[in-house]
Amino acid sequence: MSISNNLLLRYRSAERANHWLVAITFILLALSGLAFFDPSWFWLTTFFGGGPWARIIHPWLGVVMVISFTALATRMWRHNLLTANDRRWLRQIGDVARNREERLPEVGRYNGGQKVLFWIMISCMFLLLASGLIIWYQYFALYFPVEVRRIAVVVHAVAAFVLIAGILVHIYAAIWVRGTMGAMIRGTVSRAWAKKHHRGWYRKITGESE
Ligand code: HEM
Repeated sequence: MSISNNLLLRYRSAERANHWLVAITFILLALSGLAFFDPSWFWLTTFFGGGPWARIIHPWLGVVMVISFTALATRMWRHNLLTANDRRWLRQIGDVARNREERLPEVGRYNGGQKVLFWIMISCMFLLLASGLIIWYQYFALYFPVEVRRIAVVVHAVAAFVLIAGILVHIYAAIWVRGTMGAMIRGTVSRAWAKKHHRGWYRKITGESE
């Protein structure tokens, strides 16, 4: 949708609020989770009122993140289905890194990399939720045999590592592609940004053929 001569609407305010709730809870979870992962990071519990409070708050933050991420993913999944062009884009990742956009196939609302990362996020969220409930001592852990809890601890750590690495890439890409942060802060992008990075989406929402 065009909101001025130069600006296009990419995210409505409810979508942005939803995204930033996910992002804030994710950062708090990563900090409190790393604090339990290795004693050298235990000092991070200071931000949460000390060790016991960090331990109490962490799973509840997880519940908020999973619920808010589910809402975000429900809004976004349709736009993240991989197309033949996306697969070509992924095979040409070398051209992406070298900024040779003229060689790449047309990109829709999201590029192949964003879409793959979206499904990685979904998988990690599911694994974090399932393993997190199994090791939530206050309510559920004692219903599971110790072997299952041990596996769950490993799954939880691996899924958290993959998600943290994925989100670092997500943040890097949001900064690297100039004009992208504005999409999630103000909700808008310039026509030039859309035409250059997401031409298929640009053509669809403006109705222009070029
Ligand atoms: C913490 C800092 C974060 C920053 C700076 C950030 C930035 C952004 C930006 C700029 C966009 C718009 C991209 C575009 O329209 O092309 C976006 C989209 C999105 N972000 Fe984030 N984000 C952050 C964290 C997260 C987290 C923690 C998650 C989920 C675990 C997340 C999930 C998403 C999703 C699902 C989209 C829509 C893209 C898609 O559906 O493929 N973001 N983010």
